[in-house]
Order: sequence, then C-alpha cells, then structure tokens
Amino acid sequence: MEKIAEVENLVLRFYTYEGIVKALEKVSFAMKEGETLGIVGETGSGKTATALTFLGIILPPGKVEDGSIRIKSGDRYIDVIKADKETLRKIRGKLVSMIFQEPSQALNPVYTVEEQVGEALLAHIYKDIYSNALKEINEQLSQLEENRNVMKRIRLIFDKMVYERLNRNADDKLAQFLSHIPILKRYRRWMRKVIRRYVIELLKQMDIPDPERVASSYPHELSGGMRQRVVIAIALACRPVLLIADEPTTALDVTVEAQILDLIRKLKKDYGTTIAFITHDLGVIAEMADRVVVMYAGNVVEIADVKEIFRNPLHPYTKALLKAIPKLGTKELYPIEGTIPNLVNPPNGCRFHPRCPYVFEKCIAEVPQLREVKEGHYVACHLY
Ligand SMILES: Nc1ncnc2c1ncn2[C@@H]1O[C@H](COP(=O)(O)OP(=O)(O)O)[C@@H](O)[C@H]1O
Ligand SMILES: [Mg+2]
Repeated sequence: MEKIAEVENLVLRFYTYEGIVKALEKVSFAMKEGETLGIVGETGSGKTATALTFLGIILPPGKVEDGSIRIKSGDRYIDVIKADKETLRKIRGKLVSMIFQEPSQALNPVYTVEEQVGEALLAHIYKDIYSNALKEINEQLSQLEENRNVMKRIRLIFDKMVYERLNRNADDKLAQFLSHIPILKRYRRWMRKVIRRYVIELLKQMDIPDPERVASSYPHELSGGMRQRVVIAIALACRPVLLIADEPTTALDVTVEAQILDLIRKLKKDYGTTIAFITHDLGVIAEMADRVVVMYAGNVVEIADVKEIFRNPLHPYTKALLKAIPKLGTKELYPIEGTIPNLVNPPNGCRFHPRCPYVFEKCIAEVPQLREVKEGHYVACHLY
C-alpha cells in the first residue's frame, strides 16, 4: 500500500531554563493510505509533540533539530519541516487536520457553530459558491447594461466583499460601507444561506441530532460530546487526506467516548481519511487501530499490526503496558514500575532500561535501533 506520510529521524528539543528537553529522539514511522495508525504511550512520551510537528506547529522553546516529515500531496511529497509559511497554510486543513483532547479549546466561545463551521467550509466550498455567485450576479447585472462602468465597479466591490470573507473583518471601513449597498446586502444574505446549507449537511454527517438548532448555538450551549462532534466537523470540512486525533475522547465520559469512536470509524469509512489516532489507552487502540506505534520517552520502541501487538508484543515496555490493562475477574493490577524519565537527562542507552525487568549491560551502553524482526514488526530492543 502507498505511504501517505513518512516521519524519519525526527529530533525535537525544548530549550528550557531547566535544560534541554530531548522530547523526540530519532522518531521514525510511516503511515499507509487509508489506515488508522494508533500511537500509544504514557503521558510525556512525545505523542502530542509528534502530532504538532506534523502540522508544522512547534511551540517555542521547541526546535526541530533533525529529520523530516514527508506528506503526500498529489503525486509528490512535501516535507513539513522544510516548508515555508505559505505551504504550511495550504497543508493545514487541506492535507492534514487535527482534533485535540479538549473540544472547548478548539472552539471560539464568541461565534456560533454555524459561523465556525462555515468559516472552515468556506475555503473548500469557496470556488463552488463563488462561481455560482458570479453567474447569478452577471445575470442580474445584465439588466444594468446601459452603464458598463457601474457594472464593473459593482463587480469589483463584490469581489472584494467575498475576499473579505463576507465582511467578517470589522476593521475594514470600506467593507463596512459596502455592506450597506442593497445589492451587496442581498448577495451576502444569499451566500449566508448557501453556507448554512453546507454547514447543516456537514453536521448531519456528524450524526448531530437537530443540526439546525446546533448550528445556531454557541459552544457553551452544547454538551462535551456535541462540541467534539462540531470540532470533528471543522477538522473534516476541507476533506483532509490525513486526520490526526490527539486523545479526542480522553476528556469525555465513557458512553460519549464510545459514540465518538463510532463516529470516527464511520467517517473513516465514508471519507476514506487516513487517521493517526493518539491515545494512552490500549483499549481504545484495540478498537480503532489497524497498526500501532508504541512510544516511550521520545522514542518509537515498537511498530506492528494491532493483532500482532496484542498477541505477540516484543518490547518489554509494550508487554508492561499490556499487563497494566485491568482485567475482568482479577483484583490484581500490574502498574509499570517507576516513572517516565526526565528528558533533560534521559537514561543512557535504552531510555527504558531503568524500568526494564530484562535489562543487561548493553542496554545501558548502547541505544537500540528500530529493526524489522518479522515482516512488518519493528522493535528497538537489544533482546532481539
Ligand atoms: N512547551 C514545552 N516546553 C518544554 N517541554 C515540553 C513542552 N512541550 C512538551 N514538552 C516535553 O516534551 C515531552 C513530550 O511531551 P508530549 O508530546 O506532550 O507528550 P504526550 O503527548 O505523549 O503526553 C515531555 O517530556 C514534555 O515535558
Ligand atoms: Mg499529549
């Protein structure tokens, strides 16, 4: 299957007062077209850092020191790390979009759902709407044929209006003035109606009951689950090739979580989107992922098909994670001993060695490289 994205030797550091946080150390993995790739690991293992880097967002004091993230765009690949601002803007939304853990943070409290989803949709349906609008305006304006100059002027004004995104830019005095001209007022209303239709259609696809009401609501008027559906709608508005979901259900309660997982699965089927599904929860991985990347303290430690990960885990960390899942009928819990290391001074050699029950000299001396030990099964461990 074709690779849709390829992360290679990604090195990310944060330059903090406490020292240099070595957050990602030579992270490599690929994503295949149409798959759901689960990315799993404890808090602090570098999942969010990896996701943000995909979008070309590195929050200062972070810095990508090395590596590449190549994303397929048409018949070529774009390296996000090397891309300029303009290219990144095109990548976001169109190629890659992201849903975060906390839906209320992704939404603006002062705009309605309709306005926010509409804004996201605009880029996508813009051409559609714009060419229809021009057709219609041309028909109307042909009645003004006696004065070609007036027609030209109005055309220019209309172009500007559309570009100003329907006058959302409150500082623009000209746009404000123009919005009082009757013919433009009419077209603005008409465009609003068209956009609303697209918004409601999209909300319906998100299985949102009563989409008309939700469209007119503000984020705080909705439940957490509904808000996350709206966020997903925004993320999918431009039909991205790749969707990154960073713990999208962690903030939700269990029944709502199940519904959102169902929705994401349905959307994947309908849209054919490739998904990177990030979670600390192996239970969610079992439900969602086709393949799994296991991360520990800024390293990829294991990659395999989901079935293989559960049946035949190789890395001691993966084994420990699996053992830590609470099982029905037993009282015993097996939490992983120790804590995730401080990444300012990570352990030498294998970063997992202080917590590893199988540790031997080589683990302390030498960083294990990710190796394919069986077809499609990669592990970074000196035991293999
Ligand atoms: N802005 C930042 N400044 C300093 N360190 C950071 C920053 N963001 C993340 N880190 C560090 O990078 C590492 C990876 O973090 P993160 O990607 O958020 O992990 P995860 O999402 O797996 O919980 C952690 O050690 C974290 O402390
Ligand atoms: Mg995170």
